[in-house]
Amino acid sequence: MADILPESEALSRAVELLREGAAIAIPTETVYGLAADATNGEAVARIYETKGRPQFNPLIAHVADIAMAERIADFNPLARRLADAFWPGPLTLVLPHRAGSGIHPLVTAGLDTIALRYPRGFGARVIAALDRPVAAPSANSSGRISGTTAQAVAADLGARIPLIVDGGPTPVGLESTIVKVSDDGIALLRPGGIAAEEIERVAGLPLARGAKGVQAPGMLASHYAPSAHMRLNVGEVKPGEALLAFGPRRVAGAEKAFALRNLSDSGDLREAATNLFSHLLALDSSGAATIAVEPVPLEGLGEAINDRLARAAAPRDR
Ligand code: TXA
Ligand code: MG
Repeated sequence: MADILPESEALSRAVELLREGAAIAIPTETVYGLAADATNGEAVARIYETKGRPQFNPLIAHVADIAMAERIADFNPLARRLADAFWPGPLTLVLPHRAGSGIHPLVTAGLDTIALRYPRGFGARVIAALDRPVAAPSANSSGRISGTTAQAVAADLGARIPLIVDGGPTPVGLESTIVKVSDDGIALLRPGGIAAEEIERVAGLPLARGAKGVQAPGMLASHYAPSAHMRLNVGEVKPGEALLAFGPRRVAGAEKAFALRNLSDSGDLREAATNLFSHLLALDSSGAATIAVEPVPLEGLGEAINDRLARAAAPRDR
């Protein structure tokens, strides 16, 4: 079973394990990451093995500063502007991969682009101390909800990894926003912790949407699947359903819900993002066969929340 160490005591142990090629769970501001040395192929393979993730799925390489990022990828002026504005923070940039970066090809799954992110907090500190980039998908087994607390990570992956660094609940609660920057402009590959509108404001350009294909193969339809069925944008709760609520007013039948969690009593989308995965997990383990979800507005972080809810609700074989 994994050791769980508080952030304040974990740095040297975490660096030591990463140097040895282990995969360990670390907190970032978005979700917990399952981290390994991105220059070590065996270590990266351990990530895929631990998650049970399909091999074709490329990973984000996390860096400790912009200088480290610029040794790995080519930044055009637009990419540089976005990095200056949003890093460290929940933005991932997909950029042309530089030859000789030292990143193991398993990280990019053979693409000639690479996804880079400079996280806040413990993530950045451990990467700086290791002095190498770290590959880190969300710390959950493939197809499960992303872990936003050390306890959720322990319940899912605890038997398969040596260390979980406990930084408390992650402040953003959703994965990073992923944008691809090229000389043709900028495309939104995954909505996430930074609202698309904020990125457009800094870029001074509209984000192209609807990019698909290998761009983000991690976006499998049922990527965030709970075991319960999901019913979205409900106007009423049916008998036996659990309710994932949003805002101050409840839909009809809410008082009879099998279990209830409110993403944000006041209707705040940032708070809702933070609570999304932990509330889904709680309702999923309530035993209800179906989770009914109240409408969440599509503006700001609501875009990412609705995206994750749609994935959680996608039909699947089980
Ligand atoms: O907030 C986050 O981004 C978290 C924390 C741990 O940093 N990480 C995360 O990683 O969500 P992961 O592996 O679960 O999601 C990475 C996404 C996948 O959808 C993958 O397909 C996409 O990034 N991706 C990685 N490299 C890419 C590339 N070169 N081109 C397009 N998409 C890429
Ligand atoms: Mg994930």
